[in-house]
Amino acid sequence: MLVEEAILLNGLFLFKMNETGPIGVFDSGYGGLTVLKGLVKYLPEHDFLYLGDNARAPYGPRSFECIYEFTLQGVKHLFGQGCSLVVLACNTASSEALRTIQQKDLPYLGAYKRVLGVLRPTTESVLDYTQTKEIGILGTYGTIRSKSYLIEIKKFFPQIEVHQQACPMWVPLVENVELSGSGVVYFVDKYLKSLLQKGPNIDAIFLACTHYPLLYNLIRGRVPKHINVYSQAEMVGPKLATYLSRHPEIDMKCLKNSKVSFMTTDDSENFECQAQLFYGQTLQAQQVNLDVQ
Ligand code: DGL
Repeated sequence: MLVEEAILLNGLFLFKMNETGPIGVFDSGYGGLTVLKGLVKYLPEHDFLYLGDNARAPYGPRSFECIYEFTLQGVKHLFGQGCSLVVLACNTASSEALRTIQQKDLPYLGAYKRVLGVLRPTTESVLDYTQTKEIGILGTYGTIRSKSYLIEIKKFFPQIEVHQQACPMWVPLVENVELSGSGVVYFVDKYLKSLLQKGPNIDAIFLACTHYPLLYNLIRGRVPKHINVYSQAEMVGPKLATYLSRHPEIDMKCLKNSKVSFMTTDDSENFECQAQLFYGQTLQAQQVNLDVQ
């Protein structure tokens, strides 16, 4: 269903109860494709509509206000395309914008709309991954600054000590396909050393950024063997499948034709070219403008 079919009442958009559409997946750019890959794996019948805000990426170094504003525009755009459920695949957007969007904006965007993030699927099960009860979180400046992981994990498991480390050079390195060699090894070692100095008893490290799975093998090889490294991209798919089975009223609104479509706010040819690195297969994208709702 398109926005035109929504009923405008007292300034509120009320959407028809029987609206169906793809699951929207929002990211600042390419990285969320690593999460989308996991979602498609666990929900192969569902339709997905991916939106990468490549024109304004990266979000990691930006202010809270900026990340919130851009993310809200992305969510509105996906709702306008008929999505009832939007997943923020981006950790920075999930950390900085999700709560405000859920609490402040969603009530005005439609009673049957939902926005989920990638923090919860990771945080609610961290206890299963650690014996020492000391874990490490690696993310962008925005994610680490927000302290969202610290706050969320404390809620579920106050006994777990969480150490954080921002890795601002990793996103640009991945985007420039610098996945091996002395340059990237230097920056991988630099941030890992800093994390392990803060938490010498860490036995589990979580990659809380969409780009980091591409550095997984390198990171794995640079930490001591007794420390496990977990890629979030693998954790989100099963959790979303469980969420939908617990919420049939949301699942009812999801189209199931196994169709996956892609939108980008920047040049679509560039997106198609670079996206293969993150998604592992060729795809076609459409360029969209988020300012035009
Ligand atoms: N998608 C972002 C994240 O997961 C990384 C890229 C960016 O900084 O925009 O935090």
